[in-house]
Amino acid sequence: MVILDGKKISNQIKDEIAAEVKEMKSNGEKVPHLAAVLVGEDGASLTYVGSKVRACERIGFESTLVKLPDTTTEDELLAKIADLNADDDIDGFIVQLPLPKHIDEQKVLLAVDPDKDVDGFHPANFGKMALEMQTFIPATPFGIMELLKRYEVETSGKHAVVIGRSHIVGRPISILLSTKDKVGNATVTLTHSRTKDLEAFTKDADIIISALGVPNFLKADMVKDGVVVVDVGITRVPDETAKRGYRIVGDVDFENVSKKASYITPVPGGVGPMTIAMLLKNTLLARQRGMAKKA
Ligand code: GUN
Repeated sequence: MVILDGKKISNQIKDEIAAEVKEMKSNGEKVPHLAAVLVGEDGASLTYVGSKVRACERIGFESTLVKLPDTTTEDELLAKIADLNADDDIDGFIVQLPLPKHIDEQKVLLAVDPDKDVDGFHPANFGKMALEMQTFIPATPFGIMELLKRYEVETSGKHAVVIGRSHIVGRPISILLSTKDKVGNATVTLTHSRTKDLEAFTKDADIIISALGVPNFLKADMVKDGVVVVDVGITRVPDETAKRGYRIVGDVDFENVSKKASYITPVPGGVGPMTIAMLLKNTLLARQRGMAKKA
């Protein structure tokens, strides 16, 4: 069994990006600048956005955190997005999800300039991804694909079962695994809450991507020997013995499933750090593509 070490690979990717930033600086070029918009005080979102901003600092990017109260109106948020779209100094930005209920998420995602949409959530970018055109690929599925690529996990002709159809993970990874790329060419089944007899699918799967958010959902008797398991779950479970009062638990019963798996991601230290690295990668691409447009 091989651990798909997202922490190690994400550090390699960050080192590669940092080297490019150093080169940009020595050529007198502007370094990439990522902005993140956070509306409200959701604890998990605060943590994620904080990690994204800190990662920027570590690799030499500029970063801007736009923190807005949860009383922010939809119009105020749209005005902020218009400012970021117009700001030539910002190469890319994200609006952290979920948004407060009074704000229409679709309207917000549509307002982001697709050339600055480093989350890859705008319909224009999502459509390009489905058509295998150059775009920004959403960071979590991009991270999963990169992890499979760097560990040379064979996907061609394999049966990949995705659990969960979210717009951020399940839906895009199901598309990416079916593309004609080297990491791709899989036969994909996208399962969700209405799937009948999920176990019949997971037991047949060569590759399982679990993006459900139910702690320890995937058990050893639900998978076959040699399966590749990617755990996207990051649920906070109360734990009085932990410093923060909670611990992060994945969708997969790691202790038992890992005994049958050929490759498996841990939680934490698997997909999570890869997401941040690929957001940085997209921001670098936004900077490079923006420069190409101006040249
Ligand atoms: N919420 C959970 N994951 C993500 C992500 O990748 N991007 C944004 N903007 N919000 C998220």
